[in-house]
Formats: sequence, C-alpha cells, structure tokens
Amino acid sequence: MLAQTSPWHAHAAQRLAATAAHALTPPARMEWSTHRGLGPGAEILGRNLRGKHLLELGCGPGHNTAHLAQHHQARATGVDLAGLQVHRARSHYGHIGGSTFTAGHALHHLQATGQTFDAIYSVFGAVGLVAPELLLAAISRRLVPDGVLAFSVPHPGRAGRHPSTDDQPREDHVTLPNRTRRPIDRWEFDTHRWAPHLSRAGLLFTSAIELRHPHLDPWPTTLLTTARKR
Ligand SMILES: C[S@@+](CC[C@H](N)C(=O)[O-])C[C@H]1O[C@@H](n2cnc3c(N)ncnc32)[C@H](O)[C@@H]1O
Repeated sequence: MLAQTSPWHAHAAQRLAATAAHALTPPARMEWSTHRGLGPGAEILGRNLRGKHLLELGCGPGHNTAHLAQHHQARATGVDLAGLQVHRARSHYGHIGGSTFTAGHALHHLQATGQTFDAIYSVFGAVGLVAPELLLAAISRRLVPDGVLAFSVPHPGRAGRHPSTDDQPREDHVTLPNRTRRPIDRWEFDTHRWAPHLSRAGLLFTSAIELRHPHLDPWPTTLLTTARKR
C-alpha cells in the first residue's frame, strides 16, 4: 500500500499515462547523472563485466540495467520499489537477455536474496533514500570480496545548499512529470560523512567524483561515490 501512494508510484503512473511503455534499444552508455555523456560510464563497476552479477537498487525504467546486460554481457538485475516502474522496465527491456527486473524495497531485497554480486550500484536510486546504516550494511553482506559499490546522489551542495551536519535525513522533493512536487526524505551526506558510514559497513571508500555540466550548471549537481568490499 505504501508503494502505491509513494511519489515514485505517482511518477511512474504519470509517465505511463503520457506514453505507453514500449520496447526500447538500451542506451549505448551508462549514465550516472541527469546529463547524457557527463563523467564516467560503466567502467567504474569493473574493467570486464562479462558474466558478472550486478544489482541496481532503484532501477526506475531500467536504462542502465539494460545497458549493462546488452553492451557488457553482464547478468544485471534491477530492483525498484514501484511496481509500475518495474512494469515500465520490463516493457522497455524485457527482451534483453541477461537483464531481470523485480519489484521490492532495496533493503528487503538485499536481506531476502541468497545471491552475491560483483557490483551493486544506484543512480539517484535507493542509496540516499534509505537509512545508510541499514542499507550499506545489507549491501556489504551481498558483495563478493573486493566487489564494487557505486552510487550517484543529488550533490549535497547543489544550488547553494549545504550538506547535512548530522546523520539524519532531510526533507527534499521529487518533481513529478506534471511539475507538481512531492516531499521525500533524503540523506544529504558529503564525502566526509559517507566515508565513515561505508567503513562501518565493511566497505572501503575509493573515490568521489563531483559532476557538473560545464555550461548548464553553476554548481556540481551529482556526487558519484565508489567503494570496495574489504
Ligand atoms: C529518481 S528515480 C531513478 C531511477 C533510475 N535509477 C534512473 O536513473 O533512471 C529513483 C527510483 O528509486 C526507486 N526507489 C526509491 N526508494 C527505493 C527503495 N527503497 N527501494 C528500491 N527502489 C527505490 C523509485 O521507485 C524510483 O524509481
């Protein structure tokens, strides 16, 4: 019931009302920000992803999961809280071998699956939207030794904001396709706060990349963080 009333469900419902989901060709590049072609692509998940087991937390319509299956021959699973997003992802990319889309809360999925993954990633998805002390520990338990976690979040300093000064979530908004805004809770950490959280979960912080479109953005808009399972 919660998922049915969530802004993420509303987002998917409005997209589907505007355009019925249909089969798509996966994008040629993995994107970590909202600007195409900005920053790294799939290489930060590993040099050779062929046959590797990958998990996306909050896959939305599935573009990156499909890219990884089609262009890197990975075994890529996308999980999303909103069943309607999973419906969109399957309609777009259900025909792509190696890709699987499943509905569920990222935390519950990690806790329930018996599988381990070579890399787990989130692109404005569940990381940052679920209590980090719970989600990072669950991610760590499901990564193989030396496995990669990579996640992009809205930059905590975007548009002149300031990162959180404590470990609590703050109110943010999701803008729906019809331009209405719905409140959500978001953990707005900078790298100094992500790194110890990663460490406590058994993950070693490896890099942080700030992404900013050189012409369109006066501020960095995306923070892309990587870590490794110790
Ligand atoms: C901003 S969208 C990003 C979608 C996709 N990663 C992309 O880049 O197109 C955020 C997605 O995360 C999903 N999401 C939010 N909280 C989640 C959770 N706790 N578990 C799984 N998915 C979640 C939402 O349903 C939504 O589809």
